[in-house]
Amino acid sequence: MLDARRLSRPGLIDSISGTMATGTRRLVAIAALTAVLWFLWAQLYPVDNAGTTTIDEPADAAFPRKIWQTWSIPAQELGGTFQSWSVSWIDVNPNYRYELLTSNSASTYVREKYERQRPDIVEVFEALHNDAILRADLLRYLALFADGGVYADMDTDCTRPIDDWIPGEYLPSANLVVGLEYDAQGGEIRGDFTIAASLGQWTFMARPGSPALALVIDKVIEAVLRLYEVNQTMPTFTGEQVIDVTGPHMFTNSILEYLSIKTGTQVSYFDISNLTEPKLIADVLVLPINAFGTGQDHSGSKEDGNSEQLMRHHWYGWKGWRVSHPG
Ligand SMILES: *[C@@H]1O[C@H](CO)[C@@H](O)[C@H](O)[C@H]1NC(C)=O
Ligand SMILES: *[C@@H]1O[C@H](CO)[C@@H](O)[C@H](O)[C@H]1NC(C)=O
Repeated sequence: MLDARRLSRPGLIDSISGTMATGTRRLVAIAALTAVLWFLWAQLYPVDNAGTTTIDEPADAAFPRKIWQTWSIPAQELGGTFQSWSVSWIDVNPNYRYELLTSNSASTYVREKYERQRPDIVEVFEALHNDAILRADLLRYLALFADGGVYADMDTDCTRPIDDWIPGEYLPSANLVVGLEYDAQGGEIRGDFTIAASLGQWTFMARPGSPALALVIDKVIEAVLRLYEVNQTMPTFTGEQVIDVTGPHMFTNSILEYLSIKTGTQVSYFDISNLTEPKLIADVLVLPINAFGTGQDHSGSKEDGNSEQLMRHHWYGWKGWRVSHPG
């Protein structure tokens, strides 16, 4: 049983005294946020690897050669199109390890990785047992934070070897690699999006212990608990809430917040809009729309098969979780 009172921690900003002058308060807030982030990162980071990597100096230039997927059943039982998409990740990247976490094995995995340092994360994850998409969203962040590698949704296939995805010059500095899924490019925001530029989380890549992912995870846990607290029960999430609480909006907003803290300047949608090449901000590498978002009728996205494309998204969510989460 989820005990929201026991689990909820003070918000990142709540704990800062309101009696100081604004300028000082801002500096203290940034320092405190950095400290809290570091603390969360240190807490979350698996004990086995502690000390081998620091935030600013990744131990090894290569990202872990591991591909992660999640589904309700094992890959071998998928059959049909899903299996062939899934197999493409293995075929195109034969030197990578592959793991598909099923509904059952995901519980074991999250428990093994997080029980000791963050039992609250395990409790929230388990409390979401009735909601496959929220669980799947949280799981991808937890897997890439704990072990690193590439996460890919089941309705995607790989079109370019992962070893060729990132220009070598960015490898030593990046701990997280994300791509745009939507970019209003200075125009009006399309009706099916509510933010001017959005980072996709159907495919992304991380080194274990990415501090940006630490903030994403913490924000997701906070947001779920906040909704839980209202009626002391897990709400039925609308589609919009899924996107806000665990999905791309949460992902995008948390990463922009992390980058603002990390760089000490406001990093916003403007900094990730109109990208024509990868852009490194602190330790997060943002890829232009066509890397992961090829074949869309917006955002300057080009047709399938263009030279910037790294993978292919089949937009199955609109037939899957979107149907079970109207609104
Ligand atoms: C992106 O480019 C378009 C077209 O050149 C321009 O109108 C717009 O202001 C740019 N957007 C941003 C956020 O810089
Ligand atoms: C709390 O319960 C009320 C009444 O049943 C419902 O309308 C509301 O959406 C619930 N809120 C949350 C966050 O679950």
